[in-house]
Amino acid sequence: MNLILLGPPGAGKGTQAQHLERARGYIQLSTGDMLRAAVAAGTEVGKRAKAIIDAGKLVSDDVIVALIGEKLDQIGDKSFILDGVPRTAAQADAIDTMLRAKRRRLDLVIELQVTDDILVERVTGRFTCARCGAGYHDTFKRPAKDGVCDSCGGTEFKRRSDDNAAAMRTRLAAYHAQTAPLLDYYRKQGILKSVDGMAEPADVARQIDALVGP
Ligand code: AP5
Repeated sequence: MNLILLGPPGAGKGTQAQHLERARGYIQLSTGDMLRAAVAAGTEVGKRAKAIIDAGKLVSDDVIVALIGEKLDQIGDKSFILDGVPRTAAQADAIDTMLRAKRRRLDLVIELQVTDDILVERVTGRFTCARCGAGYHDTFKRPAKDGVCDSCGGTEFKRRSDDNAAAMRTRLAAYHAQTAPLLDYYRKQGILKSVDGMAEPADVARQIDALVGP
């Protein structure tokens, strides 16, 4: 089973991809994570991408297609989840072409539906443990003891540089202009399903499990 989690910034794509990875062993392929790793490592791609990410704009299609192509080559025939990719028609076309060449296909595209006002609140309050990456939120999910990570006891936390109101406005505009049209593209292929992304995370996971099947 190969699937795409499609939805606006903060819709819960990463949260649900990690659920599927834990529960089913699918491989999460997140272009956002790949780009942040490149920024942290100081690679040429990372250096060029940093300002674009911080502004909330989309990184160029050729960079994204190269990143995802390399990962698809590495995972062999394992099931995968595309998280945050494709985001443009050119990326969707390129992924179709790459998969055809590998005699692989997309089985399911799951849209996470969440309204913009909720997304801004989710993203601007998000922070993670700097040591283990556990995710928290200023309002919805604070550590049991303030300043101490529930999972590893770490005391340092970090926020993403693009998780602010100004960048979020640009990210949402990019989603509506360039990514939302892909919903129709996959609807026409008969592989698009939608879930209510505003439910509790465990409930969203149940909706997704029901679509993915046993
Ligand atoms: P990327 O890292 O992909 O960010 P994004 O799409 O903006 O998505 P997020 O990671 O912010 O949110 P998410 O949907 O994964 O939600 P999450 O589970 O974290 O991309 C970052 C940037 O990289 C882009 O802006 C662009 O510049 C560049 N980029 C990446 N891919 C690209 C591409 N293909 N083409 C071009 N450029 C690209 O959840 C969010 C928060 O909500 C968390 O705090 C979580 O705990 C909470 N939450 C999750 N689910 C629920 C729920 N059901 N109820 C309540 N809270 C919830």
